[in-house]
Amino acid sequence: MAEAGPRPLPNDLDALWMPFTANRAFKSAPRLLVAAEGMYYTSHDGRRILDGAAGMWCCNAGHGRASITRAIQAQAEEMDFAPPFQMGHPKAFELASRVADLLPGDLSRVFFTNSGSEAADTALKIAIAYHRLRGEGARTRLIGRERGYHGVGFGGMSVGGIANNRKFFGALLPGVDHLPHTHDPARAFTRGQPETGAERADELERLVALHDPSTIAAVIVEPVAGSTGVLVPPEGYLEALRRICDRHGILLIFDEVITGFGRLGAAFAAERFGIVPDLITMAKGLTNGAVPMGAVAVREGIYQAFMAGAAENAIELFHGYTYSAHPLACAAGLATLDLYRDEALFERARRLEPHFEAAAHRLRGSAHVVDIRNLGLVAGIELAPIPGKPGARGYDAFVKCYEAGLLARVTGDILALSPPLIAETCQIDEIFGTIGAVLAGLD
Ligand SMILES: Cc1ncc(COP(=O)(O)O)c(C=O)c1O
Repeated sequence: MAEAGPRPLPNDLDALWMPFTANRAFKSAPRLLVAAEGMYYTSHDGRRILDGAAGMWCCNAGHGRASITRAIQAQAEEMDFAPPFQMGHPKAFELASRVADLLPGDLSRVFFTNSGSEAADTALKIAIAYHRLRGEGARTRLIGRERGYHGVGFGGMSVGGIANNRKFFGALLPGVDHLPHTHDPARAFTRGQPETGAERADELERLVALHDPSTIAAVIVEPVAGSTGVLVPPEGYLEALRRICDRHGILLIFDEVITGFGRLGAAFAAERFGIVPDLITMAKGLTNGAVPMGAVAVREGIYQAFMAGAAENAIELFHGYTYSAHPLACAAGLATLDLYRDEALFERARRLEPHFEAAAHRLRGSAHVVDIRNLGLVAGIELAPIPGKPGARGYDAFVKCYEAGLLARVTGDILALSPPLIAETCQIDEIFGTIGAVLAGLD
């Protein structure tokens, strides 16, 4: 771990255009992180910051894991880069097999990307190409969901349902429609999955009737919507989507960029919910956030359709990235999956869930709190907005949490908590205790 203690700020913050950031507000009062170990970051002013967000839903095994560092270092010394087109390297195959071992059903083939956004776009492209190869080339429509987040590529943005992420960027992809989101304020303070609301999946039947199934390629949803502020699916909802997709030959894509790798107390949300989607996208926890990497897993039949659709020595899928299965990412991924297995971190998350849920819901009654939602080691604390200033209270809470030594995530007026799966119960208590104290002092 780098030496803790106050550090000088870099003297020029101007050149960096920061992503999804209020650049001017940040640069006038910067928050820089300079080191990380276990459950804690160190801030540039030498403070210990409890990580209530696993970085950004990434570092499920906690920070500074020596075995991951060593694996990356050893790989960099052995071989820095190998071209992924028409060439390969051993760890790419090994990691794909290891990921496949974690997947449910016959999700058996894995395509590597460098991010969740690339994984989402890759999955959408595979879905459309798959139908074409099977002689159903009219199936090009994609269906996402209001309040969904699938990254920032044009595909993911188009099926996504967060207005600010879409409205600046033109007409987006044609032929996209959206399901309604699953949030119902009448069910505020539900612990875990709401018992009612599954009928929102029936909207898919309406869209199918409107567009005709012969035009629809895929439906993509996050099993638990994360970035929009933690929306837990009602009981039976995901099952109903699966049934409707099956009925009409539509592929079901689970975007598990957040929910993958133990966040819900199982390798994937698909396992937790007992549903086998046709494709799963993943990223973040795949390498514990240490090296950028994403992936798309597909069911055997999808892969085989591509194999059958091309001559023996022809390229079957005209898609890929220079850094697909980058050796450093593969090394980090393998070391990460070893940690998850050796420390039984997915099971640990499941064991911690009741404590986490109880701690989160103790904030009911705290100032400004209008809803608390949770599943696995994810919780959303929704605050009442300041009239006329949506997001201002959430941002204020986020900054004050940071000043009080806690890293949370904020979306609008919703705080999202998703600590590393190595969290101790006292650290979970500290996360929600700090939030409670901060809320008590907020306007
Ligand atoms: C469900 C989901 N999909 C896709 C993405 C995009 O991932 P990335 O930021 O790695 O491109 C995210 C990021 O938070 C996500 O939560």
